[in-house]
Formats: sequence, structure tokens, C-alpha cells
Amino acid sequence: MTSIQYSATVSPMPILSLNGISLTIQNHRILQDVSFDVKEGEIIGLIGPNGSGKTTLFNVLSGFLQPSKGTIAFRGQDITTLIPSRRARLGIGRVFQHFGIFREMTLEENVRVALEALPREQRRALGDLEELIGATLEMATLKSHAKQKAGSLSGGQMRLLEIARTLKSGKELFLLDEPTAGVSPKMTHQVADIIQELKKKGKTVLIIEHDLPFIGRICDRVVVLDLGKVVLIDEPEKVRQSRALKEIYFGADPTT
Ligand SMILES: Nc1ncnc2c1ncn2[C@@H]1O[C@H](COP(=O)(O)OP(=O)(O)O)[C@@H](O)[C@H]1O
Ligand SMILES: [Mg+2]
Repeated sequence: MTSIQYSATVSPMPILSLNGISLTIQNHRILQDVSFDVKEGEIIGLIGPNGSGKTTLFNVLSGFLQPSKGTIAFRGQDITTLIPSRRARLGIGRVFQHFGIFREMTLEENVRVALEALPREQRRALGDLEELIGATLEMATLKSHAKQKAGSLSGGQMRLLEIARTLKSGKELFLLDEPTAGVSPKMTHQVADIIQELKKKGKTVLIIEHDLPFIGRICDRVVVLDLGKVVLIDEPEKVRQSRALKEIYFGADPTT
């Protein structure tokens, strides 16, 4: 009998594995050897200065950019060369930094078109469409605005709508790029509540965020990127106190 290489109960397969991801565009090294695993049900914060490669890494994970080197596995399946729609079908959901909302359509219609665009089996698994539209608007705390045109919403409300719409689409892993940018403190709390609700359902979230207290409240681990490299992966409190973080954000000072 051949020996068993691993035990699923001892080390469950990560939902996402990044192995040596590098991306060079026109001699500019944007990502350099980025490797880490994400466990199912984890909330991971991705932080780093502007231009450190966070959004680019999301583009690589969702398939809008091909890495120059390295591989990505989703539940053990190599997805490095899959196009974005195939990755979405496997269960990777992305909320964009810029809205994908149709301003001339009502909120209800905006949710409906997104849900109707899902592959048929995935839509069926979500149950009754009308109920789901209601639940999505409720998640965004916008149910009373259902018949209003989306163009009448504030920037923060649009963002909540976009987040809720993606989060209700039956995905397993979510990529959120600065969901609280331009959002009021009250709405920031709502976004945190929504993410915690997802965690309770066993969903996995990667979130790019500048707001460190927010990261500390919701994340299990934080990945720090600088100049396209992972410089630290740890629990939020340890990252907050780390010298590496202070050096990145406030400049290196080897004497302190
Ligand atoms: N398509 C591209 N072509 C050339 N450079 C790019 C492209 N996309 C991003 N960059 C560069 O890559 C770096 C990382 O950008 P980005 O991922 O947007 O950073 P962050 O999201 O951390 O602020 C920046 O220097 C940016 O100018
Ligand atoms: Mg960005």
C-alpha cells in the first residue's frame, strides 16, 4: 500500500494558494514573489502604501492580469490561466473599487440584472430571485429605496449596494478593494457587520483597506505589501505594533 501524503483533517486544503506570484510590466516589477495561503473562512486584510501592488494583486487573483511567474490555486485547482468569468463561476467574487452600478436603473433593477447574469445553476442554488433581491437591498440597508434610481444614491450608499450585490451572489471567496473608501463612519460599521455576517456563514474574504482600526476589528490575519513584496503576515495586533509597518508608513529609522 502506498503511504498517505497528507490528512485532510489535520491540514485542510487552503481555499486559495498564491505561489511565487510576480508581475513585471514594461520592466517595472509590480509584484515580486508573492506567496501565501488563505484558509477557508478566514478574513485577510491586505494593506500597504499607495502603489504597493494591492489592486494589481486582486487583478491577478480575479484573472484580469496574468502573472509573469507563479501560480494560483483555488481549492487545490490551478486557476492561473483561467479567464475572469471562469474564476467567478468557481466561486471567486470581486467588488470593484469603482462602482459597477447603472445610475438610470432602480436599485431593484440593478440587483436583478447582476443576479440574472449569473450562470443558471448558480442562480438556481440561490433560491427565489425576488426574495434574494429583497435580502440584498436589506443587507445594504436600502430596502426602502428599492424603486428609486441608483443615480440618486450617495457615493457611500452606492458602494454598499455594490458590496451587498456581490456578497449575495453565492460566491465562496470575496475580494473587496477599499470597501470603506468615501463611506461615512456609520456605513463603515455597516460594512464591518456585513463582513462579519459572511464569516459566520463560513465565507472567505480578502480585503484591501487603509483603515487600520477597521482591519483590526474584522480580520484574522493581515498581509502587508510594500513595493510589490510581502513584508509581513501576522495577526492584526502584531502587525499594528510591528516595526516593519512603522518603517513602511513613516520611513525607516534603524535606531529606534
Ligand atoms: N497596467 C499597468 N501598467 C503599468 N503599471 C501599472 C499597471 N497597473 C498598475 N501599475 C503600477 O503598479 C503599481 C501598483 O499599483 P496598484 O496595484 O494600483 O497599487 P495599490 O492598489 O497598492 O495602490 C503602481 O506603481 C502602478 O502605477
Ligand atoms: Mg489600489
